[in-house]
Amino acid sequence: MLEVKNLSAGYGSSRVLFGISAKFAGTGGTAILGRNGAGKTTFLKAVMGELDASSGDILLAGKSLTLCNTVQRVDLGIGYVPQEHSIFAGLTVRENLLLGAMGKRGQKEIDTVVDFFPKLGDRLRQISGTLSGGERKMLAIGRALMGRPKILMLDEPTEGVWFGVIDEIGDRLERLSREIAVVIVEQHLEMALRLASNVLVIDRGQVSMSGTPEEVRNDPLFLKSIAV
Ligand SMILES: Nc1ncnc2c1ncn2[C@@H]1O[C@H](COP(=O)(O)OP(=O)(O)OP(=O)(O)O)[C@@H](O)[C@H]1O
Ligand SMILES: [Mg+2]
Repeated sequence: MLEVKNLSAGYGSSRVLFGISAKFAGTGGTAILGRNGAGKTTFLKAVMGELDASSGDILLAGKSLTLCNTVQRVDLGIGYVPQEHSIFAGLTVRENLLLGAMGKRGQKEIDTVVDFFPKLGDRLRQISGTLSGGERKMLAIGRALMGRPKILMLDEPTEGVWFGVIDEIGDRLERLSREIAVVIVEQHLEMALRLASNVLVIDRGQVSMSGTPEEVRNDPLFLKSIAV
């Protein structure tokens, strides 16, 4: 459903991604793994149009996104939870969620998010800056879900979160991946591999390995290729 073809991108004159190709089906989980600085965040940013690709193409349901800006890409169904969660600390949980609705109706989507993360339901009127770290991650994911994405891309959604909450987020994302495509950049290997039916390892801006969790686990170079 989402196809990335030979994507290269970088920052100014420094190139970070060198011809990445990948396909993401309509449902199921994909884990993107790789060392710090490998280019995982840059890849997601390029798919979102936060960064111009220097070459290559990104196709959603066969249509090129090259001329679409980030807002249009979200509107077309790509949800994104950035590594640096941009929650508005001074707004309530409900207000932050509504900002993710992209002008679509709000209450039905809020109900879906509350069903997804019941903890947020008790906190809709709370100022977001006073949420716990785990609750903030749930809000960031919930806000991306408000746009009713067809594919949800998450950049390290469990970074710095207590392991009980990691399990909770992992369970929910696993459930979600039966309905839509979920692409997750994740340091917690067990959670990522449990959720994923496909794994993509990025090394120095290139895909160095791909396959099912079993296939990559059995590759003797796997652990080395993701070690920090
Ligand atoms: N805004 C920027 N300007 C210049 N270089 C950048 C910028 N953002 C990232 N880089 C560089 O691009 C490379 C890839 O960074 P990126 O954030 O994509 O890595 P990552 O795989 O997400 O790493 P991590 O696991 O630490 O999040 C790094 O060398 C980084 O220093
Ligand atoms: Mg990153």
